Amino acid sequence: MIDGNTRLTGIIGYPIEHTLSPAMQNAAFAEAGLNWIYVPFSVDPDHLAAAVNGAKALNFAGLNVTMPHKKEVIKYLDELSAPARIAGAVNTIQFDGDRLVGHNTDGQGFIDSLKHDAGFSPREKNALLIGAGGAARSVAVSLAMSGIRQLAVINRTADKALKLQESIKDNFPDCIVKVLSPDDEKIVSLQSESQLIVNTTSIGMLTNPGLPLGMERIGPSHLVYDVIYFPAETEFLREAKKRGAETLNGARMLLYQGATAWQIWTGRPAPIAEMAVALTDELELKGKVDGQSKPAARTNPDRI
Ligand code: ATR
Repeated sequence: MIDGNTRLTGIIGYPIEHTLSPAMQNAAFAEAGLNWIYVPFSVDPDHLAAAVNGAKALNFAGLNVTMPHKKEVIKYLDELSAPARIAGAVNTIQFDGDRLVGHNTDGQGFIDSLKHDAGFSPREKNALLIGAGGAARSVAVSLAMSGIRQLAVINRTADKALKLQESIKDNFPDCIVKVLSPDDEKIVSLQSESQLIVNTTSIGMLTNPGLPLGMERIGPSHLVYDVIYFPAETEFLREAKKRGAETLNGARMLLYQGATAWQIWTGRPAPIAEMAVALTDELELKGKVDGQSKPAARTNPDRI
């Protein structure tokens, strides 16, 4: 029941209709017995400053931030966590008294998912990262923070991959970062020496079918991750599974980034199991409603 003690949280994005987060976050508040609420807000980019300052004036406890505001919102914040600063993107705002603190929980969500769902630690491992957009940045920063030995970034547009390489090298001098174009012959041998292969591109979504990488060398020694969660099994994951690789999709990253945000706001451990059930139900519902025309997308949690 909403009353004078209800704490406010929510998500700002544009558009926001397809967000899966309210179901997951409100289920967590209910489970924890907290008088809190999470509401989606459609915020035109021209009104971003007013929305953030308005939320502060209204005594919000927290906000998630999604497309297209994740970079732009930084200028309205007082402080950034290290992952948010290095990735150059904020997906979670903590209203800490008068101070607005920006976090990026996307990368933590990815790492938590590796750990809890596959028992995988990035420390001293080699990873192949396909893509160099917003999702790739969060994943790359979190892998570097978790002690990955080598990151090989493959991207259609070389410039973006080079920028990502530069920011990882600047912040994590011990991490080896290689950049390759999608037709580079060295990719085959890099596949063999990598334990983790991550697709962060939109190749594999219903609107952009296909494979983001040749599958020749993929086998049982690989953990293959696709940040896409709709469809739940992309062609990339299907082919990887056929070749004996362990596979994970972006739904778990989505879950854990939300859980981390919830923990930042409430200071309590998140009720993961209940959040997972709510997310699965919502994905099923949205999948049925949206069908082929409006795929719910992928975890760039930009699109959560
Ligand atoms: P996000 O912020 O969601 O990660 P983005 O910044 O637009 O989205 O990044 C999308 C990624 O998918 C990029 O790496 C993009 O490659 P480019 O940098 O060359 O644009 C990649 N991508 C999207 N469609 C692609 C396609 N058809 N072929 C190859 N790469 C593609």
